[in-house]
Amino acid sequence: MAKVLSGAGLRGQVAGKTALSTVGVSGSGLTYRGYDVKDLADKCEFEEVAHLILEGDLPNETQLRDYKASLKSMRGLPQALKDVLERIPSDAHPMDVLRTGCSMLGNLEMEHSFEQQSQVTDRMLACFPSIICYWYRFSHDGVRIDVETDDDSIGAHFLHLLHGKKPSALFEKVMHVSLILYAEHEFNASTFTARVCASTLSDMHSCITGAIGSLRGPLHGGANEAAMELIESFTSPEHAEEEMMGKLARKEKIMGFGHAIYSDSDPRNAIIKHWSEKLSHEVGDTVLYPVSVRCEEVMWREKKLFCNADFFHASAYNFMQIPTKLFTPIFVMSRLTGWAAHVMEQRADNRIIRPSAEYTGEDIREVPAMDERA
Ligand SMILES: CC(C)(COP(=O)(O)OP(=O)(O)OC[C@H]1O[C@@H](n2cnc3c(N)ncnc32)[C@H](O)[C@@H]1OP(=O)(O)O)[C@@H](O)C(=O)NCCC(=O)NCCS
Repeated sequence: MAKVLSGAGLRGQVAGKTALSTVGVSGSGLTYRGYDVKDLADKCEFEEVAHLILEGDLPNETQLRDYKASLKSMRGLPQALKDVLERIPSDAHPMDVLRTGCSMLGNLEMEHSFEQQSQVTDRMLACFPSIICYWYRFSHDGVRIDVETDDDSIGAHFLHLLHGKKPSALFEKVMHVSLILYAEHEFNASTFTARVCASTLSDMHSCITGAIGSLRGPLHGGANEAAMELIESFTSPEHAEEEMMGKLARKEKIMGFGHAIYSDSDPRNAIIKHWSEKLSHEVGDTVLYPVSVRCEEVMWREKKLFCNADFFHASAYNFMQIPTKLFTPIFVMSRLTGWAAHVMEQRADNRIIRPSAEYTGEDIREVPAMDERA
């Protein structure tokens, strides 16, 4: 008989092997293919890290130039996909838009064989910003934007489409950092979803569509949006302190804090916090950043709960004038690399993922006749 697990949520269970990342392993908080995420965020552009995660190694200069040129050439959207995006209402959740966009892309540009997996992944990496921004600008501003820009990076492409102008060097740098921090995180809920789907030998678009659905929830990717709603409800650090104390007394869950694996800090927090502070100076903010810092202090002092990657992302994105409802889609644009790499890893050494359940229902019984039922 299979062993019954005592903890809920499969916490602490090793559910498979990966060579992609380590999370919370002693000595190094988060590594991608052996590199510390801090080192990568300091020294690399997101496209270098995407190449590392997907291809196994950091690109040399020529490889990076070719990789970026290739991604740049795949930003356009088929008319049939634009038609679908134009039919999605403006009050739809942008994660639902991406889920539909990804699924529609799979209908139009099907993955016929696993040999196409790298090409299919690059296509998604290149055009997800186009999908979300095409829908956003059409449904909110009534304009049909040209989604093919000549920006050098995925982050700059996204900001350019969103704001209709090229971003500053600082904004582009922060997008690189943000996309690097969100790119990969071992067997989190959405990645595990992608792997389960891959284990049935399904296609890449189905794996990614399923993962988007898992990431959408507020306990996972949606936390950065919830954190934004929290911090913008406070007018000063003192106000934040008072309200946070009330929330804790009422045992409310505060989004952007805590983590299923890390126990005393999330290594991504210090990095994005640093850039959020820089942006706050750049844009002349006097409220959001100090409020965020006070929330962090109160949570640590009262509960020993620390900010996860999402908390300071909220203020950082806000300083770059990104609408709150687009926060989680940015996470998708980045985590797509991790998801796809996990799908490829699963495919390379596959057995269908099919755990068992501990049965807690009725003993075996006979089906009663209709007139004997309660
Ligand atoms: C991330 C998260 C889902 C991890 O969940 P988990 O491993 O199951 O941790 P638990 O929920 O068991 O937390 C243990 C205790 O800390 C409390 N806690 C954890 N995160 C908390 C938070 N963000 N706010 C308030 N209390 C929190 C729990 O209520 C629980 O208290 P209890 O023992 O009195 O019931 C959880 O911390 C959370 O919901 N955080 C907010 C959502 C979020 O930011 N998600 C993004 C993750 S990157």
